[in-house]
Amino acid sequence: MSLDIAAKKTLLRKIPHGLFICGVAEGEVVNGFTASWVTQGSFNPPLVVVSVRSDATSHHMIQRTGCFSLNVMEVGQEELVAKFFRPQDGVGGRLAQVPYRLGTLGLPLLEDCLGGLECQVVGHVASGDHTVFVGEVKAAVLHRQGEALTLAHTSWTYGG
Ligand SMILES: Cc1cc2nc3c(=O)[nH]c(=O)nc-3n(C[C@H](O)[C@H](O)[C@H](O)COP(=O)(O)O)c2cc1C
Repeated sequence: MSLDIAAKKTLLRKIPHGLFICGVAEGEVVNGFTASWVTQGSFNPPLVVVSVRSDATSHHMIQRTGCFSLNVMEVGQEELVAKFFRPQDGVGGRLAQVPYRLGTLGLPLLEDCLGGLECQVVGHVASGDHTVFVGEVKAAVLHRQGEALTLAHTSWTYGG
């Protein structure tokens, strides 16, 4: 049986996705990137799943440090989110343009977003061009209520 590539692409692109800024920190170096392949994985303990390109700078930082943050973005923040998938001037260049602080686990939490989670990696699957990291939520900060930005609010695609 051969895979119907067009059907696979159309159907995978129908999976609903949010839009997040994933933050990483290693020593003095911080970085952030736009991530949409994110979902909850367990209630207790609270687990989240994020899939990260194996060639991304942040991928290697997550592998080495075993932690990451997820900043939940709001409808209307497309411009900010776009900054975080475009090429940057050196590692951390995107974060240098926005106010953030380091949270309990020392991970970047953006000030202008709905809130952020800090997670410790408890498992991963490295197969294919992304690595699926499972993180346990260790800290959460809610800045404000609002409607979360999703891929469907934008003209962007990531998937298929
Ligand atoms: C809409 C959109 C969603 C994205 N979602 C992801 C994602 O879930 N995982 C991922 O690894 N990269 C994702 N990316 C790509 C990263 O944001 C991009 O590769 C980034 O440059 C990686 O940064 P880094 O190399 O500094 O870590 C997405 C890009 C776009 C445009």
